[in-house]
Amino acid sequence: MDLAGIDQRLTDRQSMRCRQTEEALPVRTTDIEGALTVRTNHIGGALSVLTAGIEGALLVITAECAACDEKHGSSSPVTLDPYRSASPPSHGGGAAPHHGGLTMAPAHATYAITGATGRLGGRIARRLADAGIEQTLLARTPARAPRLAGATPAPGAYDDHEALVRALRETDRVLMVSAAESPDRLHAHRTFVDAAAEAGVAHLVYISFYAAAPEATFTLARDHWHTEQHIRASGIPFTFLRDNLYADFMPALVGADGAIRGPAGDGRAAVVAQDDIADAAVAVLRGPHPHVGRTYELTGPEALTLTDVARILTAVGGRPVSYVPETIEEAYASRAAFGAADWQLDAWVSTYTAIADGSLATVTTAIPDLTGHPAAPLEQVLRTASGPPAG
Ligand SMILES: NC(=O)c1ccc[n+]([C@@H]2O[C@H](COP(=O)([O-])OP(=O)(O)OC[C@H]3O[C@@H](n4cnc5c(N)ncnc54)[C@H](OP(=O)(O)O)[C@@H]3O)[C@@H](O)[C@H]2O)c1
Repeated sequence: MDLAGIDQRLTDRQSMRCRQTEEALPVRTTDIEGALTVRTNHIGGALSVLTAGIEGALLVITAECAACDEKHGSSSPVTLDPYRSASPPSHGGGAAPHHGGLTMAPAHATYAITGATGRLGGRIARRLADAGIEQTLLARTPARAPRLAGATPAPGAYDDHEALVRALRETDRVLMVSAAESPDRLHAHRTFVDAAAEAGVAHLVYISFYAAAPEATFTLARDHWHTEQHIRASGIPFTFLRDNLYADFMPALVGADGAIRGPAGDGRAAVVAQDDIADAAVAVLRGPHPHVGRTYELTGPEALTLTDVARILTAVGGRPVSYVPETIEEAYASRAAFGAADWQLDAWVSTYTAIADGSLATVTTAIPDLTGHPAAPLEQVLRTASGPPAG
């Protein structure tokens, strides 16, 4: 029996209808390690699979439903038929149908995207829309969500548990962009994950940060690691896309005087294009099965010093940009005038110290592996962003 093949069919949301009550039951499946588990929100319990196999065009599962046993006083196994239009399969086990049986029919997977009002989530939402995929756009301000074919905005602030459970209840695949930096971001992330678990989401793709770790030099990468841990503990099948620094973000490092200042020494970062991250995210969302439980470190094709970054910015932008290394003390002092909170200052300065100590330097093949195309170098990203040359 090819259990992996069976799971592939089942990770798409399927509608399961109770033949007795005609009620549509949302179903999600979790991975199979010898025992396939099919969960339904309706009965809140697991169906333990007794047998599973392919009969002709039918996937036939014989399962035992403890919750429905209690509810209906039946101890009969149920047969799940993946093709609503097909006649019920004979499952060979001789078991009587469970209160008329349950039918399960394949349907299109449903998608919800966060961060669509922003740069990365917006790119991902546009790609899905261009592919003709319907999606819910979860937004703090739904009116600001982009107008895309097949896209429906819904309230989705990360700390609004109830709204999120409502919006995600019929959703299979969710993209979670990390929230704006704030002192309570981790709490908001945990709230989002808890809501996704309660809603029965089948796959969560989380946009994390490169080399996320509890003691990461870049302080915000610690939040990402804690978020990842919470997702693991939630039981939702997941994929983590850990992004290096955004290549698109490099121009923002330049001060008004044309200098990038920070304690990065001559360390390197393998900056990655948001377009490439979006392509990778869409690939995972559309075909999640091989990526369940996987963590990908997404980088560009080269690890650059900030001297390299300044040179490329100069070449593309036409105005001179330089890199001026600071000590850590100088970095805190030069940013003191912004009056930012300590956690924010630590985040700013540690972006550079993480470059200095090599935390962001290793180039990976995750972008080409996931997307089938090469990762874009910084120069290409900047030229694409600045558009074709005038004249
Ligand atoms: N790897 C890097 O170099 C790097 C650099 C900067 C940021 N980041 C992280 O990557 C994320 C995506 O980057 P981006 O360029 O797309 O940022 P962006 O353009 O600022 O977009 C962020 C998106 O997240 C939404 N959002 C923020 N906080 C939220 C919350 N609490 N609840 C619901 N939605 C929330 C925003 O919605 P609103 O429209 O309501 O604000 C917006 O749609 C950022 O949010 C940040 O966590 C990474």
